[in-house]
Amino acid sequence: MTTPMRSQYLALKKQYPDIILLFRLGDFYETFDDDAKIVAAVCDVVLTSRPVGGDERVPLAGVPYHAIDGYVARLIAAGHKVAIAEQIGTEPPKGEKIVPRVVRRVVTPGTLVEPGLLADKQNNYVASLVLDGNRAGLAHADITTGEFATTEMQVSGTDGQELVRRAVEELGRLAPAELLYPAKDPRWSARGPAQDDQARADGLPPQIGQAYHLTPYAAWRFEEATARAALLEHFHAASLQSFGCDDSPLAVRAAGGLLQYLQETQKDNLPQLVSLRTYSTGEFMVLDEATRRNLELTAGLRGGTAQGSLLGVIDMTLTPMGGRLLRQRLNQPLLDMAAIEARLDAVAFWQVDALRRAELRELLRGLGDLERWTNRCVQGIALPRDLLGIRAALGRVEQIAALVDSYSSQAAGLLGDALQPGRAAARPAFDLTPLPDLAQLLADAIAEDPPATLASSGVIRAGYSQQLDGIHLATRDARTWIAGLESAERQRTGIKSLKVGYNKVFGYYIEVSQANAALVPADYIRKQTLVNAERYITPELKEYEALVLNAEERILELEGQLYRQVLGQVAAAAARLLAAARALAELDVSAALAEVAAAHRYVRPAIADDGVIDIKDGRHPVVERLLQGEPFTPNDAALTPEESIVVLTGPNMSGKSTWIRQVALITLLAQIGSFVPARAAHIGVVDRIFTRIGASDEIARGQSTFMVEMVETANILHHATSRSLLILDEIGRGTSTYDGLAIAWAVVEYIHNHPELRAKTLFATHYHELTDLAERLPHVVNYSVAVAEQGDSVVFLHKIVPGAADRSYGVHVARLAGLPRPVVTRAQEILADLEASGAAGPRRSGIGQPMLFQLPLFSAEDPIIAELKVLDVNALSPLAALNKLYELQQRSRAGEGEP
Ligand SMILES: Nc1ncnc2c1ncn2[C@@H]1O[C@H](COP(=O)(O)OP(=O)(O)OP(=O)(O)O)[C@@H](O)[C@H]1O
Ligand SMILES: [Mg+2]
Repeated sequence: MTTPMRSQYLALKKQYPDIILLFRLGDFYETFDDDAKIVAAVCDVVLTSRPVGGDERVPLAGVPYHAIDGYVARLIAAGHKVAIAEQIGTEPPKGEKIVPRVVRRVVTPGTLVEPGLLADKQNNYVASLVLDGNRAGLAHADITTGEFATTEMQVSGTDGQELVRRAVEELGRLAPAELLYPAKDPRWSARGPAQDDQARADGLPPQIGQAYHLTPYAAWRFEEATARAALLEHFHAASLQSFGCDDSPLAVRAAGGLLQYLQETQKDNLPQLVSLRTYSTGEFMVLDEATRRNLELTAGLRGGTAQGSLLGVIDMTLTPMGGRLLRQRLNQPLLDMAAIEARLDAVAFWQVDALRRAELRELLRGLGDLERWTNRCVQGIALPRDLLGIRAALGRVEQIAALVDSYSSQAAGLLGDALQPGRAAARPAFDLTPLPDLAQLLADAIAEDPPATLASSGVIRAGYSQQLDGIHLATRDARTWIAGLESAERQRTGIKSLKVGYNKVFGYYIEVSQANAALVPADYIRKQTLVNAERYITPELKEYEALVLNAEERILELEGQLYRQVLGQVAAAAARLLAAARALAELDVSAALAEVAAAHRYVRPAIADDGVIDIKDGRHPVVERLLQGEPFTPNDAALTPEESIVVLTGPNMSGKSTWIRQVALITLLAQIGSFVPARAAHIGVVDRIFTRIGASDEIARGQSTFMVEMVETANILHHATSRSLLILDEIGRGTSTYDGLAIAWAVVEYIHNHPELRAKTLFATHYHELTDLAERLPHVVNYSVAVAEQGDSVVFLHKIVPGAADRSYGVHVARLAGLPRPVVTRAQEILADLEASGAAGPRRSGIGQPMLFQLPLFSAEDPIIAELKVLDVNALSPLAALNKLYELQQRSRAGEGEP
């Protein structure tokens, strides 16, 4: 025989076999059976057991309801999904033994809404990917902001690899917290090796599998008819035409599947998804994952935070909405010149006038997350403090709208590309109209300092509801009476230590210590005996108590009702609130970029379509901030169709990598519509930036250093166009010198000679041989980094100058790095030897002459063997060969070549 509770639990659990079920029981969320074991281990709580009828006991682990967020976070971080079952009401319905319970929400990595679990300035996306032949659909949503978008990709022919690569690129930009894919046998099980196997079996390519938290979701949900129907129903639309994806079946399938998943986890509570945006990845500059990482756009190479990244330098936004928008823009630079100019106009507007900018930024500071608060109202989960946030933000909106209005004549393009109709990059509704009605409602309805949750009364302001005020008034006398009871009874009985207290079990009581028990008057009724005291009640006290407690219950209920009404009214205004939030985000980003420009001396780039990049006195935005005390040396850069490939040589530590990256970062900044760190910059729009940075280890991915390098290089050569910018830092370094040099040489030749390629290329290298290329190929130029030698030591000037470098100064850097003195000295000796023998040094023999590949690395190699190696056997007559053999034998007998 099982208890009714157990039956109820098992029935719910059956619907969520692979998910941890948190079952609300009073002040706790309890878990049972295997779930309990997991929760105990992951959350560090005690594992106990509970009788479930008969002699049976099952494992039990519980967490207090008020601390649920933290525990959910730990479970999610450990790779689990969590279903939260709440009680409906407090009393069992007639004829039932227990309170009914339902699962209100399933929490997964991509569907978190708890503010404590989310990063302010980062979207939390859940994405879905459908691959089908030569097409793919990729949708993403952020339920905390209401963003919902989808795209379709197509490759010609059946190049599956190419399609996967593009999907990986787009996923790299979105960095979703969770990724859905169609699965034959869906299970929402914890992340682990079994799951990866399943993903493989379902046809998900390995590049995608390992990088994301995967959720296999029923394949039929992604079928076109089902997906389309789900979208149409959710949006109450007759066709998908207005969403732009009517003719993109894969986009529809990805979006529809994702929508159904969200409906399932959010229990249909998705009013925040008001629209679906269909976009094309072709509107934006393409940045593959390696390039994002190498250029350290949003995370430094060490440690995954924004610190030390480009975002870390330029993110001076003051609101979470602005922070999220800036991050999105950084990940999606534009291609359309007019759109870029419009953003630059907005930045310029705030940049020219520091006072005006300060005024706006003062109003944005501390304004808070209007976007997420609004969505919490729409979802019906907003807490009183969220409403206070909205109320305060609305006051700011009014002031900011007035400020913007006062400039409106001068600032047609003030709000960036958002106001330009028909822009693919434009965001939906954007409007900074104040909402005084809503501000007034919140001011009237919500108390000045409300409790954190609705569990206590006091959320609704006095004067808002006559009914509520009436209840308070009616019980005021009773409250005053109880409040005065202690002193009144002390006087009556003469017991100085008499106390009036309250607990949940007995309600109000009068407590008298044992020592004074004799003084207790006859009308006291004893209720409870403690070690040192007795607790009493009186009939009168109970009467007043009933009044107060009944009232309290009614107050809580009424406040709950009123509160939900208010939430409903806020939710009804959500479209306007979200439009205002977007407008604030736009303003915040423009003003922040203006602030960066002013603080760090950035200039407005000239945007062009001529394939020319011409930067005067450019600086690396991140390195210049990290140098402490030392000034950063600015450098020019010029890439034109005539001189499109730069081979950069120079000593170690001189600034080669810094320079080639800074050209890429300046170009990218220009195309997100930011000013750039330079004295002047002319940027011909670039369709993609590729980077190949030597020797980064990716052991975790199961590929060797050199393999990764070659895969990335192949990717570049396959996909670069004449409008691309290539940053090649020491390619070929991961293998033997000659192999590496040969590959590097061939790569440059290929880029140069390929009829459609000739991409703008910056190639930093230690292979001095590559400088010969400039003599052979008309569009290749040499640059190097200047150094000054002072006696024995070397000074790096970090100045990029025309011409090739002559030395590497590697040994010098080795000394600076603190290699033991004997090692440095010995290295200097070897280097001198090598240079003397011609094996190293300023200009080694050029490529094309067979000598290059025959040079021994160490002159200590046996000369006989060396000679044998270069011997052209085919060119020898039999007699000459015999003579040679005889000569070599004689020489070896004479002891030559012995160690
Ligand atoms: N323009 C500059 N002005 C001032 N300091 C610079 C400049 N460029 C680089 N540096 C400093 O020199 C350091 C080394 O630069 P970088 O990594 O670019 O050298 P590199 O030539 O690529 O060296 P290697 O050949 O060893 O890869 C930087 O970390 C920075 O501190
Ligand atoms: Mg370098």
